[in-house]
Amino acid sequence: DYARKQYYGREGSTKVNVESRGRPALGGPFTLVTTKGEPVNQAIFLGQWTFFYFGFTHCPEICPIELNRMSKVVDAVREERPGEKIAPLFVSCDPRRDSLEAIDEYLSVFHPDFVGLVGTPNQVNEACKSYRIYYSIPDDKAMQEEDYLIDHSIAIFLFDPNGKFVDFFGNRYDEAEITAKVLQYMDKLQKDPAWTNW
Ligand code: NI
Repeated sequence: DYARKQYYGREGSTKVNVESRGRPALGGPFTLVTTKGEPVNQAIFLGQWTFFYFGFTHCPEICPIELNRMSKVVDAVREERPGEKIAPLFVSCDPRRDSLEAIDEYLSVFHPDFVGLVGTPNQVNEACKSYRIYYSIPDDKAMQEEDYLIDHSIAIFLFDPNGKFVDFFGNRYDEAEITAKVLQYMDKLQKDPAWTNW
């Protein structure tokens, strides 16, 4: 049974404690575009283990730490399991300022394989909702001045190659712990292909 205390950290505010029973209904259909301008939905990523992270390129501190951690996990897992396909994805919660070029450039600093995703404010909002990602929308004045921060949930989501939600990692896990868990999940799925149909 999948039941435990789960934490979504938030930037700049108190931590939120989310209690969850049963398998959380996370993920699901979304429509976004890649930084190459290609429209994508969740089906595009089937066949790969996908890591999802939601953030924004102007984030001064938290997003860079998280994206670094995610990059290290991807490399560490690949070293152990060169046969597994892994897609690290970044979804921008700041479609107003984050242009495709800006996202692309930002992600290239962290890992060459990062896929950047964004959409219209509505599409981003829908995607965040299905992943239960909270993010703050700046007020009109801040938007005009183009100088604002976005408070957002911090979590790295993992989906299996069948597109099934596996787990998410808040910022209390370090890269070694996440890597160990991901490898364990890969083992489990190899032994029991129906394991994530919970
Ligand atoms: Ni951030």
